[in-house]
Amino acid sequence: MAELDGFERAMPADEIEEGVMYPVEIDQEERILVKLNGEICALNGICTHEEALLADGDLEGNTIWCPLHSSGFEICTGRVTNPPAVVPLDTYDVRIEDGDVYVAIEPRPKYKEPPKQPRRRR
Ligand code: FES
Repeated sequence: MAELDGFERAMPADEIEEGVMYPVEIDQEERILVKLNGEICALNGICTHEEALLADGDLEGNTIWCPLHSSGFEICTGRVTNPPAVVPLDTYDVRIEDGDVYVAIEPRPKYKEPPKQPRRRR
């Protein structure tokens, strides 16, 4: 079994089906794996609003819906697409080694909304 510095083995890559949520534990924390358009994405498994378990929610297109108050989070970026949550989910780098999915222990920098463009006057 491969060992990758800063990563932990999650599950075999060939067990991951497109458009299905897989709850996994990395560094004793809840994470979710989702394959979307062939890319495997890893997100924190706990809602940033009031800490509900997102694996109990729904996956619809590229959105995870929280089971408690229906916040929406975009897969792969963690961006909030529907309130009441305002803080994006942490996302994590993913690597495939020897047929297994490895997830980074430390999160990527959080998603930031692009700056708003000033309105042009005519
Ligand atoms: S706990 Fe997820 S929306 Fe409130």
